[in-house]
Amino acid sequence: MLRTKIISTGSYVPDRVLTNQDLERMVETSDKWIMERTGIKERRRAGDNESASDLAYKAALQALERAGVGADTLDLIVVATITGDMPFPSTACFLQHKLGAKTAAAFDVNAACSGFLYTLSVANAYIRGGIYRRVLIVGTEVLSKFTDWQDRNTCVLFGDGAGAAIVEASTDDSGVLSVDIYSDGSLAELLYLPGGGSKNPCSTDTLNNRMHYIKMKGNETFKIAVRTLEQLVLDALQKNNLKSSDISLLIPHQANMRIILATATRLGLDMDKVMINLDKYGNTSAASIPIAFDEAVTSGRVKKNDYLLLEAFGGGLTWASALIRW
Ligand code: ACO
Repeated sequence: MLRTKIISTGSYVPDRVLTNQDLERMVETSDKWIMERTGIKERRRAGDNESASDLAYKAALQALERAGVGADTLDLIVVATITGDMPFPSTACFLQHKLGAKTAAAFDVNAACSGFLYTLSVANAYIRGGIYRRVLIVGTEVLSKFTDWQDRNTCVLFGDGAGAAIVEASTDDSGVLSVDIYSDGSLAELLYLPGGGSKNPCSTDTLNNRMHYIKMKGNETFKIAVRTLEQLVLDALQKNNLKSSDISLLIPHQANMRIILATATRLGLDMDKVMINLDKYGNTSAASIPIAFDEAVTSGRVKKNDYLLLEAFGGGLTWASALIRW
């Protein structure tokens, strides 16, 4: 049976650091509030000339180098982003060109913070269906350019970065055991960017009403996220006939420490079995899981045959899980 195997990971975050103390000088907030409510200490901010495909390129190059394969061997590139270079063409096409991956098809997926697991689901379907053998999947975000730096409800949360993985067809029994994606568009307005699309095209009004920035009903989103993720991880375990004690590492979307704690508690997992780096990078949306995944792999926290549980929740609303045997 063909199975999807992650053969390498890579990541990139911009150099520029924005601390909670920096934010105290920009909006009415405090390091204490941000730490207590989110667990975030600092985040990265892309340079003025850095776009989503630039970040994606650096993460992808690292993943290719680590896999020891050339970009010209890729069959497909799927990029998850909500902060792409332009409405079109896709950021995946810009990335394809930068990498020189001439034979790869390329397209984007828009599923906000669940985006990377959506790309894994796409790659998994193509690989298991026998259509493609080697796929580059990337989550990349430059959220800082869509953040309202006057809105303390959102500006303290987000960061920029990119993470990537090379996945390919394998016949051994490790790899992706399951990947499940879900959505509920009836709750779209809990977390969205209303301006600049065909519904509210760019105009003086949309600019004056600050509609080109991310809007979020944080507390409502928080409650739904906790409830949804608790059920999601239990479903993923049940589907694979596993118990939470079988999980070596939970790699959650890095949105809020309290959400992560609630999921870990529901699973009865000690926090040393949970990958956390949101203190350094904040919520990087689609980039969050692949950056955390890459850090888990490169820091030696992932060992052969470990069961890894990945989960995410975000705008759409969307949510997703993956169970991987490393
Ligand atoms: N500094 C100080 N006070 C603040 C700040 C701030 N940065 N932001 C909000 N407050 C105030 C509010 O105004 C409110 O004051 P009030 O009681 O006087 O009205 C108070 O703090 C509490 O606000 P809440 O929104 O209820 O705070 P909450 O505990 O819910 O935390 C947070 C807010 C951190 C946003 C949380 O709700 C959260 O993490 N939500 C989920 C985010 C998420 O997971 N999103 C999905 C992924 S993102 C994506 O897909 C792109």
